[in-house]
Amino acid sequence: MPGMNRIRRIGVLTGGGDAPGLNAVIRAVVRTADRLGGIETLGILDGFEGLLERRYRKFTSSQVRDLVGKGGTVLGTTNRCNPFAMLPEHSATGAARIDRSAEVVRNAREAELDALIVIGGDGTLRIARHFGELGLGIVGVPKTIDNDLAATDYTFGFWTAIEAASDALDRLRDTAESHHRVMILEVMGRDAGWIALHAGLAGAADVILIPEIPYRIHAVEAKIEERAARGQSYSLVVVAEGAVPIGGQPSWRDADAGDGHPRLGGAGDRLARELAPHIEHEIRVTVLGHLQRGGSPVPFDRILATRLGRRAAEAAVGGRFDTMVCLRAGEVSEVSLDEATAGQKLVDPKGELVATARAVGVGFGDERG
Ligand code: F6P
Repeated sequence: MPGMNRIRRIGVLTGGGDAPGLNAVIRAVVRTADRLGGIETLGILDGFEGLLERRYRKFTSSQVRDLVGKGGTVLGTTNRCNPFAMLPEHSATGAARIDRSAEVVRNAREAELDALIVIGGDGTLRIARHFGELGLGIVGVPKTIDNDLAATDYTFGFWTAIEAASDALDRLRDTAESHHRVMILEVMGRDAGWIALHAGLAGAADVILIPEIPYRIHAVEAKIEERAARGQSYSLVVVAEGAVPIGGQPSWRDADAGDGHPRLGGAGDRLARELAPHIEHEIRVTVLGHLQRGGSPVPFDRILATRLGRRAAEAAVGGRFDTMVCLRAGEVSEVSLDEATAGQKLVDPKGELVATARAVGVGFGDERG
């Protein structure tokens, strides 16, 4: 693939959890490639699984016309397929894994893919980097609602998730106020607190608990009581699914969600159990879950996805492989896949966003309130 004089056909796949904006990237890739001299785009179904099983879908510019505002991914995705470490068919999760990467490379060549655009989060991009080492011409596009990829200012899907979470807080406020309750909203984000922090700021939460600032239950209780003493008979608490009490562990449901990460969940219920003996309010827990991942992308995510898709198609056609397109200081650019997969971006507990939240009275469950 790399080193070819002319790119004629580009493959595109989406891997890992979906995020609003994936279809807008696909649309931009197809249309840009087409306009760069009739270069074909072959969609690969269900991530790397589609390359293993040779399941494809051809796209023309007119077929992707309406995709910019459509949630999900028309290509399908999975977070359970790493061709370098596959479970043999029909075997239990503990069985020894086998390396089927050579089949992927063979099928990509057979499909005459001169480049492969991989839209994914850290796990998918790491797999893509290894395929780059095996000779596939890889261009990555960063995707996750968690916004925790170090090499890009924002990932598309993040602001759509914030919209869903802050809308949920607005709704919870109404009913919290009516019933004088403490409402806990559990949001996604894995071990990064970006969704909780942004949603909490946008939705005027009283307490925001994030993995980067371990909490003490008595500090949360003190915040709720401080509000009650000022005549505020209800409180809104946003808890990230990865939030941890000081000296504790994140609350998880499964040790492995299939993608090497534990499946987090239960942080809201745990917090309610911990708080209940200490406060007089009734407590209710809402888990927002996959409502944060579905739905039509907000305009920021549509535009970012379109910009990244265009740039990815140009990088692929220009033979600039082993790269990931990204947004830095407001400009779309490219970084090496090595750099892109090197680090995770976490909330800085001493950063400006946390300081702003504290300045307007938000508690983080730590010694500072
Ligand atoms: O990484 C995106 C994300 O939505 C996380 O915020 C969440 O922990 C996880 O994926 C959920 O994954 P699944 O869809 O496999 O339950």
